[in-house]
Amino acid sequence: MCGIICYSGHRKASQVIVEGLKNLEYRGYDSAGIATHTEQSIEVEKGEGTIDEVIKTGLNGDRGIGHTRWATHGKVNRTNAHPHTSSDNSVSVVHNGIIENHEELRKELGRERFKSDTDTEVIPHLIQDELEETDDLQKVCRNVMERLEGSFAAVALLDTGEKIAFKKGSPLVIGDAGDEIFLASDVTPFLKYTDKAVFLEEEDYVIVDEEYTIYNSGEKVEREVEHIDWDAEEASKQGHSHYMHKEIIEQTETVKRAAFQDRKDLLKAVEMVEKAEKVYITGCGTSSFAAELGALYLREAGIQLEVEQSHELEYRKDQINKEDLIIGMSQSGETADLLSLLKKTDASVLGIVNVVGSTLDRDSELSLYVNAGPEIGVASTKAFTGQLAVLKLLAAAADNNIEEVRKSILETSDKIPKVLEDNDSNIDLISSYLSNKNDAYFIGRYKGRIVSKEASLKLKEISYIHSEAFAGGEFKHGTLALVEQGTPVIGFMTEDTSSETLSNMAEAKTRGADIIGIGNVEDTGFDYFVDIPEDNNPEILQTAVAQLLAYRTALKRGESINPDKPRNLAKSVTVK
Ligand code: AGP
Repeated sequence: MCGIICYSGHRKASQVIVEGLKNLEYRGYDSAGIATHTEQSIEVEKGEGTIDEVIKTGLNGDRGIGHTRWATHGKVNRTNAHPHTSSDNSVSVVHNGIIENHEELRKELGRERFKSDTDTEVIPHLIQDELEETDDLQKVCRNVMERLEGSFAAVALLDTGEKIAFKKGSPLVIGDAGDEIFLASDVTPFLKYTDKAVFLEEEDYVIVDEEYTIYNSGEKVEREVEHIDWDAEEASKQGHSHYMHKEIIEQTETVKRAAFQDRKDLLKAVEMVEKAEKVYITGCGTSSFAAELGALYLREAGIQLEVEQSHELEYRKDQINKEDLIIGMSQSGETADLLSLLKKTDASVLGIVNVVGSTLDRDSELSLYVNAGPEIGVASTKAFTGQLAVLKLLAAAADNNIEEVRKSILETSDKIPKVLEDNDSNIDLISSYLSNKNDAYFIGRYKGRIVSKEASLKLKEISYIHSEAFAGGEFKHGTLALVEQGTPVIGFMTEDTSSETLSNMAEAKTRGADIIGIGNVEDTGFDYFVDIPEDNNPEILQTAVAQLLAYRTALKRGESINPDKPRNLAKSVTVK
């Protein structure tokens, strides 16, 4: 999963590209590189590490390509960093995706030509061989795409100064700034130059010289120019030390934005649900926990459905028919596990997604947008609470009380800043306590159980503390054996489940645990407590507390941790 960018215009390309790559580092950051075009030749600078660590010289030229990598094939080192060039240095390529038949192509092209062990390097050699046969760039693109199997968003810089690009299975969007043309994995690298975005469709290919022309299957095609209302400022940190903190704090706005779903769309979505023979709701990671909460909301509205993580649901693809509906949950809309499932069934798809123009968005019969704006931190925060808001409204639409639920969500969103401020010192205290622990257990019941799962994932993925989440009722059926003196047990409570959860925590406390309560209950007998005011949507408030707790704990775990870029992870997992 990587970030790619291409620029041509009147500015120094290397500067524009390096700046643009920084907006894409959330897609991967183990190595980086750029290539620019100057008088009939291509210069490359690349290496292992982040963009700032690698790009030093600022190559000349007013057109170029850039890449920031999350390794899928080949070790993390300079040789495997992109761009990759053809053996005669006439073609330089950056790529996001996986070329599944790269071994077979490597053999056919001649292994001696290859410098790296990446799948990507087959692309520049294929283009070089095609250019030896023809200077018809359309033909070159078509022939190369025909040879590639797998997923790719790739841009090639030629020593003529022209660029060609192809898109299949990975996102690629054109930024049209008039006399400046961008191609990138998403809109954030060019937002400061233009709000005009053209999202390429499957198997589109583009030839860029002074202008760009889009083709598909040999025909010139027009794609809609969309106006993106995310400004570059919104995509920046706005003064917060990390994107994650910014995105936690802005939830009071983003939950509201999610609550303003178009009534027509909600009713259309309900129609899809009610018409379906069977309904499945699915996602991965945090989005799978949104799916689990969504299943509870929809069941309360009288809709029966199944919920399962996408990579698991795919094993049951043969049970899913075209009369069925899959509700796909995803922030990025590019998660391979979800997209792979959707490709393998002919069920209708209702997408609940944050990134407009993403593959999930375009593969869905209808999309409900989370409207959380760019979520850059690898740990999902505002997209999750936005997903919950959308799901609550979907259930409300089925229950004919959209306005009442919308109003309650708006009231909840207004409480977020106060809950975080009122509990700031408690959250800080608990984060100091947790930062010295190696294990933590989260428990809850019903909706609190799912909040526990999300809280546990947040903590482990950015602080690297081992944590697990359980239904409160399950704790005593085994895991309680792990509780020792000083083991932290964090319980999420709401009125309807608090007495049972309290007794589960008491069971842990008698065995030496330190118990931390988060909810709307009396602060009795806890070692630490975070008070959540009475609210119709407590899981949104509890999640915001859990996010801030995880963030603060991570920072206390030492300088080596960057909550925006946790080790081994990437923002959008576009590989299975
Ligand atoms: C959540 O904090 C993680 N970064 C991860 O679990 C993420 O939710 C998952 O990969 C799904 O991503 P998506 O919402 O973009 O599909």
